[in-house]
Amino acid sequence: MGALAGKKVLLGVSGGIAAYKAAQLIRLLRGAGAGVRVVMTPAAAEFITPMTLQALSGEAVRQSLFDPAHEAAMGHIELARWADLLLVAPASADLLARMAAGIADDLLTTIALATSAAVAVAPAMNHLMWRHPATRANCATLASRGVRIWGPAEGDQACGETGPGRMLEPEQLLGQVVATLKPGARRGLRVVLTAGPTREAIDPVRFLSNRSSGKMGFALAAAFAELGAEVVLVSGPVMLETPPGVQRVDVESALQMERAVMAQMARCDLFVGCAAVADYRPADVAAQKIKKLTAEREIALVRNPDILANVAARSPAPFCVGFAAETERPVEYALGKLEAKRLDMIAANLVAGEQGGFERDENALIVLWEGGRKDLPMSDKTQLARALVAEILQRYDQKHPAQDT
Ligand code: C5P
Repeated sequence: MGALAGKKVLLGVSGGIAAYKAAQLIRLLRGAGAGVRVVMTPAAAEFITPMTLQALSGEAVRQSLFDPAHEAAMGHIELARWADLLLVAPASADLLARMAAGIADDLLTTIALATSAAVAVAPAMNHLMWRHPATRANCATLASRGVRIWGPAEGDQACGETGPGRMLEPEQLLGQVVATLKPGARRGLRVVLTAGPTREAIDPVRFLSNRSSGKMGFALAAAFAELGAEVVLVSGPVMLETPPGVQRVDVESALQMERAVMAQMARCDLFVGCAAVADYRPADVAAQKIKKLTAEREIALVRNPDILANVAARSPAPFCVGFAAETERPVEYALGKLEAKRLDMIAANLVAGEQGGFERDENALIVLWEGGRKDLPMSDKTQLARALVAEILQRYDQKHPAQDT
């Protein structure tokens, strides 16, 4: 435990309905070992009481720049210096505008100007406000100054509309905070992942394959590497750059993928099967290109090995995480696979229709384990991967308490 041990997070809360999620965020940050202090804007106090955030953070909540008692104890400049990270969550359109303009008309915006710590914002607003050119320009300005912009996610909004503007879930924000503040937290952890599709040759020029882009597996590999883990990524044919710090092994077929994975098993703490491995391969591969001589042609198929199930059946087995890409009833099918393949965790996602995760930059997941479930809402795959990695490591730590960092 304690991925954030010794780290100090100054949480800025601005006015918006998502302010209630600050309570859970504080709990998660403190649970990960961080010291948390809270600064609220006056508008934030309309949505959640300072008393709630004070009780959860265990520290006096600051609201005003002109508070003699607080300024005597820890002035705003010391507060700005104290933080390793200033995280504004939720960040309203107004707050982003004031930060971009360098306005310091309340305690939070004053600290944002005065701090040399890393600064991150988690925008939360109506989708039209998020899409407005003024907000777009403000975010571009902040990003150009090194401010990290985490989210927003797309989905249902408090106003009853749908679109981009939902604040990232507290678990997703925790993942981002750990990746930012503790880049080496998982040194010594050896992670092997599979990603992408496989290609099953029919003849020298043709193959059976699927629509997997490999993006989710690559994003997961990047998220583990960000934390300092030693990462081996066994990838089918994809059009993606290898993430920094990741050792990549390229393969084509399921049989090659299985061989490459098993070659890594001597040293593997955690295995994530993210590849869309073809279930079947042609029984025979024609030596020459097949000619269209007949009106019909049958291709006999044989089953491929289940790489993930075979890894999970090893003794000792690494901590095993699978994916269940389904076109219907994702939870039911995923729970079946969790049990049948004897996995520690499984992430279910829909791969058809509006929410479908294949060939897209965004995805949503339902993470399941024995006796537990966590929904990770639609967000870009980089952020989703960080949140999933945080979930995986939480369960991994519970199973291997001796290996905590
Ligand atoms: O059974 P299904 O293909 O839906 O299971 C999906 C999970 O199993 C994914 O994690 C996938 O990477 C893994 N898998 C595998 N080898 C196979 C088939 C699936 O590793 N042959």
